[in-house]
Amino acid sequence: MTLSIKVEEYGISPKGEAVQLFTLTNAQGASASITNFGANLVTLYTPDNKGQFADIVLGYDSLEDYFTNVPYLGATIGRVGNRIGNGQCEIAGKTYTFVQNNGTNHLHGGLEGFDKKVWRAETFKTESSVGIHLDLLSEDGDQGYPGNLQVRTTYELHNDNQLTCEYSATTDKTTILNMTNHSYFNLDMANQTDILSHELQLKSNQVTLLDQNQLPTGEVMNVAGTAFDFTEPKAIGQDIFADDAQLNIGGGYDINYIITDQSSQLRVAAIVTEAKTGRRLTVKTTEPCIQLYTANFLDGSLKGKGRAFEKHSAFCLEPQHVPDAPNKPMFKSIELKPGETYSSKMSFAFDTV
Ligand code: GLA
Repeated sequence: MTLSIKVEEYGISPKGEAVQLFTLTNAQGASASITNFGANLVTLYTPDNKGQFADIVLGYDSLEDYFTNVPYLGATIGRVGNRIGNGQCEIAGKTYTFVQNNGTNHLHGGLEGFDKKVWRAETFKTESSVGIHLDLLSEDGDQGYPGNLQVRTTYELHNDNQLTCEYSATTDKTTILNMTNHSYFNLDMANQTDILSHELQLKSNQVTLLDQNQLPTGEVMNVAGTAFDFTEPKAIGQDIFADDAQLNIGGGYDINYIITDQSSQLRVAAIVTEAKTGRRLTVKTTEPCIQLYTANFLDGSLKGKGRAFEKHSAFCLEPQHVPDAPNKPMFKSIELKPGETYSSKMSFAFDTV
């Protein structure tokens, strides 16, 4: 096997732009396909402990399905991932309002977030990886956000079976930015319709508590002794149905964990193991937090890759800042000012046990 990049025509965007599907394959035969419509991750094939490759992310069968993609399968999220309460906040002393696309909240960048835009793509190869740079100009006023934002997403598949995803951005007016990747993983997708037996460990002792609108209240809770404790490996399903007020709000896990190591180094945030296939996913990030979401809003009505997307059929581990940070000054700011460069990196590494 050698490193390779395949480019296919994938269809036409709602605005009439030609869209491609790029498949990156590494020297071990692992592959990731990405479309420049939304910089969405469409497939991810990794080996199990017998060397059999299988796709481990939920996704659709055609480009058109990504035009709506209500659950954000595989999506590159921006400008601001997660929720902004009442779709409103102050930026540099001025009040801005955003579309309320989740009850009264603004969610995942609005109706035409980064996952609905066509990005300019350029592939690259190194001695040990294949990758794709995706560039986008999000104009001043885009979805209500101030500033012309020049943003780059880079996916890179390395020969050691690590997929990295890196974001960088600059602006000409103070704005807010909290990007993330919204892939839905199921490490045994071919055989298991839920991820409840997957074991998860999180490098976090604390979550940000939620109100009934799924917004952080501003309080932080220690997870010790609660259903949210993943400090030691634990089956995702072990406590998911516990009668817990915080779990009931999201219908399962849908909460932001504060990573214990608050440095902005690329460090391990989560490890997930699936016993039957032996697949292990290690998630690293430079972000301060990671959202655990157990696909609670999937209800079987959407389909792709020969299956219906059922509740708890996948998990998302979305590196990010605390949700609603612009309205919650006790948490780290997500402001980006002219002259600064936003940068964020995550790594999804695959091996077997
Ligand atoms: C995030 C949110 C969830 C949900 C999904 C998309 O993970 O935290 O509440 O909105 O995105 O369906």
